[in-house]
Amino acid sequence: MPEDTFNLAIIGHGFVGKAIDECFPKSNKFIIDIDSKNQIKDLVDINPNIIFICLPTPMNDDGSINSKIIESVFIEIKKYGIDCINVLKSTVTPDVLQKLSQHTSRFVYNPEFLRENTAVDDLINSQINILAGNRNDCLEVQNIFINFSIKKNLNFKITDIETASIIKYTINAFLASKVLFFNQIKEIFDNQNFNGSWDDFLNLICLDTRIGESHINVPGPDGKKGFGGACFPKDIAALINYASNINVDLSILKEIQEKNNNIRSEYKKSNREAEQNIKFTN
Ligand SMILES: NC(=O)c1ccc[n+]([C@@H]2O[C@H](COP(=O)([O-])OP(=O)(O)OC[C@H]3O[C@@H](n4cnc5c(N)ncnc54)[C@H](O)[C@@H]3O)[C@@H](O)[C@H]2O)c1
Repeated sequence: MPEDTFNLAIIGHGFVGKAIDECFPKSNKFIIDIDSKNQIKDLVDINPNIIFICLPTPMNDDGSINSKIIESVFIEIKKYGIDCINVLKSTVTPDVLQKLSQHTSRFVYNPEFLRENTAVDDLINSQINILAGNRNDCLEVQNIFINFSIKKNLNFKITDIETASIIKYTINAFLASKVLFFNQIKEIFDNQNFNGSWDDFLNLICLDTRIGESHINVPGPDGKKGFGGACFPKDIAALINYASNINVDLSILKEIQEKNNNIRSEYKKSNREAEQNIKFTN
């Protein structure tokens, strides 16, 4: 692929879409968002080499994810006969991925691990890069990142779509569990008058690299106990729902979700939580 013909389309220009946008400073970009004039049918003339789909997957009332927006976008891409690699970055469960991947012969899943406050840096410096789907298409996506992006870690791992999805959900479920675990340990410090402080405890315990510095602060970055925001509560609910549909009882995670809901239902929901239809009820 000659360097000057690289055309990139991004559908969904929120935290993930904007970070992808910044990650490819030199490409010809075509951005489609809910209120932009650009439409999917315009992609016929643009003839993109690759489309990054960074659309929302809000929470359904039963905890599953709502993939209707992505579904309708795939239907339109097919309707206009736009034939290029479609890279899905949204967080979706394996069953939904299996359905979505049927819409196009060139489907690649590339789960995203960024945090909202540091979205661009996280995407550029991500420690983990997973591509899933047809091997040749995954290799082409890898080459596009290598040749056109400013990503620093270009070590990509290729796997199947289901494993890729479970990796994404497991990381978020593990980190959310870590948050609740440290919330409970903090209760010991709140309950007892130790000579040392909670901050001393954190400064020392994080020296063990198996624990590390992330997700141990109480309250968290939003100033609240427990975990909230647009991702953790939604992803934990989706993983529990998916597992229960295949008769796997994630009882530890359910307990964590229940305890978190008890904590978070005491707070007013943030706009991001409301947007994603997140519910903190048991
Ligand atoms: N925010 C994060 O930290 C993060 C991290 C990793 C993965 N994810 C996942 O990535 C996906 C996107 O997350 P986000 O935080 O970027 O979402 P977001 O809400 O910030 O952005 C989504 C964008 O899609 C646009 N949009 C909605 N419907 C559309 C349509 N029909 N056509 C075109 N554009 C449309 C919205 O206007 C918005 O700009 C979700 O599945 C999320 O779970 C998010």
